Amino acid sequence: MSDMSDVSGRRPGSLVDRVLDAARWAPSGDNTQPWRFELVDDERFVVHGFDTRAHCVYDLDGHPSQIALGALLQTIEVAASALQRRVAVTRRAGLPDTTPTFDVRLLADASIEPSPWLRAVPARSVERRPMSTRALHAAAKQAAAAAAGSGYAVRWFEGPGARWRLAALMFRSAKIRLTTEEAYRVHREVIAWGRRYSPDRVPDQALGVGALPLALMRWAMADWRRVQFMNRCAAGTWLPRIQMDWLTALRCAGHVALVAERPPQTVDDYVEAGRAVQRVWLALTLQGVQQQPEITPLIFARYHREGLAFARSAAALRRAAAVADEAAGALGGDLPRVVWLGRVGYGPAAPARSTRRRRTELLVEPAAAAQAAQAAPGSPHG
Ligand SMILES: Cc1cc2nc3c(=O)[nH]c(=O)nc-3n(C[C@H](O)[C@H](O)[C@H](O)COP(=O)(O)O)c2cc1C
Repeated sequence: MSDMSDVSGRRPGSLVDRVLDAARWAPSGDNTQPWRFELVDDERFVVHGFDTRAHCVYDLDGHPSQIALGALLQTIEVAASALQRRVAVTRRAGLPDTTPTFDVRLLADASIEPSPWLRAVPARSVERRPMSTRALHAAAKQAAAAAAGSGYAVRWFEGPGARWRLAALMFRSAKIRLTTEEAYRVHREVIAWGRRYSPDRVPDQALGVGALPLALMRWAMADWRRVQFMNRCAAGTWLPRIQMDWLTALRCAGHVALVAERPPQTVDDYVEAGRAVQRVWLALTLQGVQQQPEITPLIFARYHREGLAFARSAAALRRAAAVADEAAGALGGDLPRVVWLGRVGYGPAAPARSTRRRRTELLVEPAAAAQAAQAAPGSPHG
């Protein structure tokens, strides 16, 4: 995070280096950082995006990765503003949706003011522990709505009734997360055990679970048969779901949904949505509001809506149908246009968090760029 000193210009380094050092703090699902950078010159670079749909059940059609890419592009813009640069981005035509690729140019523009969101870039982080139930100030909600920008509405779910409803949704969705082998395979890869920080995964200490349940989780997750055994035990999936999903969904100020004017369809729609997600998240951060994304029910609901079999288990598919019903009840007709859902509340920043790969690790040579994009989805932690 000290890398941010680059953006304020205290450290040497090219313009592009300084912008990328800040921008890599953009969020991505499970901290996969689905981007690699090819430097062209001091003002131009290429973002080689990829997605993890081939091995990650949550990356449905690559949309979460595309949202992350949008968040990255937004963060590039925020970082560039500190250097009085306007950002021109063009997505390369004719490439597969699995490798969205963007040519980026930083253009000198004396009229650009440093973005107030700049200091929120490294401060923004996921809070998975319970938060304060103190109601959000009107100013925080206004800042979020203004940051969403045109084309997006921010919808709040506050008060005990609304939180209860969202808690029920999260509780139901978590059952799929805990009982589906396809999800297990993802979790096995993305959790960094015994860690407070992780540059390429999610450290276990950032999961918002106490030491004892964490130790049990670690033991169980070493083998799918152990997970199945735990699921059959007395309390089954109830204990982890109550702690990680139900209680946390109640212990917050409320939930926030970002609703697009039209249902997103194209890669560009999801990238645009990701930009709005990051703007709202940065604005909330500046207001002292923490957030935990709650994306899984949206994904399971969509799998069901589109009739896609995401798991071998028939029970998982039935549960996705129930999640879709519950989500429709909670979000109403907005559901197909909801691009983001999160729980929000006041509280200190989480003491454990994902960090990022070093900028130099994210750089690729022009010839290697295509290869990296191909190889990376199979081994996000390689
Ligand atoms: C598209 C997307 C989906 C995400 N889904 C979830 C989620 O369902 N639950 C969660 O706890 N975090 C979720 N996250 C948060 C990431 O795990 C987090 O951004 C990443 O690990 C980096 O950590 P940081 O945001 O604290 O820097 C999501 C992030 C993105 C961009």
